[in-house]
Formats: sequence, C-alpha cells, structure tokens
Amino acid sequence: MFMSDHAPVLQSDLDLRLLHRGKVRDVYEIDAETLLMVASDRVSAFDVVLPQPIPFKGEVLTLVTAWWLEQLEDRIGHHLIAVDPDVIVDRHPDLAASRDVWQRRAMLVRRTDPVLVECVVRGFITGSAWKEYAKGGTLAGEPLPEGLRESERLDPPIFSPATKAQEGEHDENITFDQVVDLLGADLAGRLADLSQEIYAYGRDVAGERNIILADTKLEFGTAPSGELLLIDEVLTPDSSRFWPKESYVLGRGQPSLDKQPIRDWLDGLEDWDKTPPAPDLPDAVVNEASERYQDVFRRLTGISLSAYVPPRFGTNR
Ligand SMILES: Nc1ncnc2c1ncn2[C@@H]1O[C@H](COP(=O)(O)OP(=O)(O)OP(=O)(O)O)[C@@H](O)[C@H]1O
Ligand SMILES: [Mg+2]
Repeated sequence: MFMSDHAPVLQSDLDLRLLHRGKVRDVYEIDAETLLMVASDRVSAFDVVLPQPIPFKGEVLTLVTAWWLEQLEDRIGHHLIAVDPDVIVDRHPDLAASRDVWQRRAMLVRRTDPVLVECVVRGFITGSAWKEYAKGGTLAGEPLPEGLRESERLDPPIFSPATKAQEGEHDENITFDQVVDLLGADLAGRLADLSQEIYAYGRDVAGERNIILADTKLEFGTAPSGELLLIDEVLTPDSSRFWPKESYVLGRGQPSLDKQPIRDWLDGLEDWDKTPPAPDLPDAVVNEASERYQDVFRRLTGISLSAYVPPRFGTNR
C-alpha cells in the first residue's frame, strides 16, 4: 500500500515483537535493552479511544517529548536514545523499509523496569483531584486547604501520585505514605523531588508562552544498571493539562488547548453514553483537532512542527 509521509496512523503494524498496545502507543521490542515506542494518531476522550486518527498527533507527542528532554538532560537521565529517523535507521537498518509509518513518531528508548507509580504533580486543582476535593475537601484522603475553588492555583504544587491502572481501569490517587510503603522512603523521596523539579521547569517555560501547565504525569523506570530514568512521554498535551492563559477563569473547568473540539462535539451528542464504541468523528472535528495539536507544538516551542529537527541524544551527539 502506498503511504505518503504524512498518512495518519491508527495502528502501526511493524515486523517486530509487539509488547504493548496502549490507548496511544505501540511498544515494540528491538532487543533485550531497547524498545521502539511508536506514538500512533489515536485519540481518546472520556477515556474511550475514538475511531478516527488525528493527523500529526503522534508526531506532536513524540517531538514535544524530544524537545523537553533535550532541555532536561542535565537534570535527569532519560530513556531516549534517538528520535531522528536517520539515526534510528543507522542503528537498526531493518527499520528502513517501514520508515514512512514510524518516522518522527517513534522513539528508540532504553528499556527499563517501569516504577509502578504514576508521578503526577498538580499546580492547579482540576480533574479527579477537584472531583474528590469538591466532595469532602481531600485529595487521596488527605485534607487540602479549605475554600479552594475549581482550577485554583496550588502553591506549592502538590506531588499527587497514582497507581498505574490495569487496562480498562482508572488510575487511583494514592498518598505519599502509600508510595513509601510500596517503594521505600528513598525512592519515594527521589520521585517526589524529581517530579517537582520537572514540573517547575515545565511550568516556567510554558508560562513564558502564555500557557498554564496545570498538572502533569511523569513516569520513571529503572535501567538494568540500576539508574533511575525518566521514561514514556514528557510534558505532552496527552500527559499534561495545558491551559491557554487568555481564557483562564477561576471557579470553572478550563478549555483544553488540544482536545476541546472533540470533547465539545461528543458532549453535544444526545445518544452516546461515553462507553465504547465511540461514534465516528466528522471531518471538520478531526481537522480542527489536528490543527490544535500542531498549534500547541508551535505555541510551546516557537517552531512549526514541520520545521522542527529533533536533536541527537546521548551517545549520538
Ligand atoms: N523506557 C521504557 N521502558 C519500559 N517501558 C516503558 C518505557 N517508556 C514507556 N514505557 C511504558 O510503555 C507504555 C506506553 O504506552 P501507552 O502510553 O500507549 O499506554 P499506557 O500508558 O499503558 O496506557 P494509557 O493508554 O493509559 O496511556 C506505558 O505502559 C509505559 O509505562
Ligand atoms: Mg501512557
């Protein structure tokens, strides 16, 4: 089948061992130490994967991650070996044939043993944290200051870990003490400190672009060497809530920079109960969402997606 450079990818089917297919990423084994993580153009809303791919979404997720990791490299070790397709093909010539499917959306990464806690940092109260707080003034069962309003800034930001949910289930917020019980005080403390540092860095950089980084979810893994590495996607629109500063209003939910057209359209349907299967999205909604993802990239980095050249990482420098 002919594929242009930019044919959207709903599902990649590479000739490699597929280890995991998540809501967005297809994760393949390259060898015992290396994975190829392919960000598809799948999109989910209300936790349901939608039938249509969103052109350029996978590319945005992968290249935003590369853009941040280049800046964060001095602070923390990360899993990225290469994003530049030429570097990936140099290392793994077998991948040349399928290049059109994966280029600019795939990350070649160091394989780790993922830490089984999602490291969320919240600088504003929204989402599941707001839901719980609105009911009883707590987050993961622990009291927060009284009188917070929806979308209010949390100062200082809160390390708000969650368990990694199994497929089809929701992550569950847990306390820091529960992380200590699971992982020990030393690792728990390092995760909290690193997560806070990365969030603060991301908040400051996004802030210069008039984007509020409301919260973000980070993942860490342990390399065979024992080194703790930042893994997965980093400070992307899928792992973070980015709010345009100009439309921020305290006391209500905020529009999302990227998924809002999809959510609004789905919300307007009378006969869909937000369980699978999801309805087909009209072309106009798909195109609007695609533009939004590309706009997030441009607004955040100051570079248009098509002009961005990913850096060479680590040993490839
Ligand atoms: N360097 C790495 N080593 C090992 N596993 C990794 C690494 N980087 C990311 N992962 C794992 O790969 C998976 C990425 O897939 P993806 O994000 O699509 O699905 P998911 O997080 O399992 O589910 P969801 O659809 O809720 O996001 C995650 O389970 C993540 O923990
Ligand atoms: Mg994920």
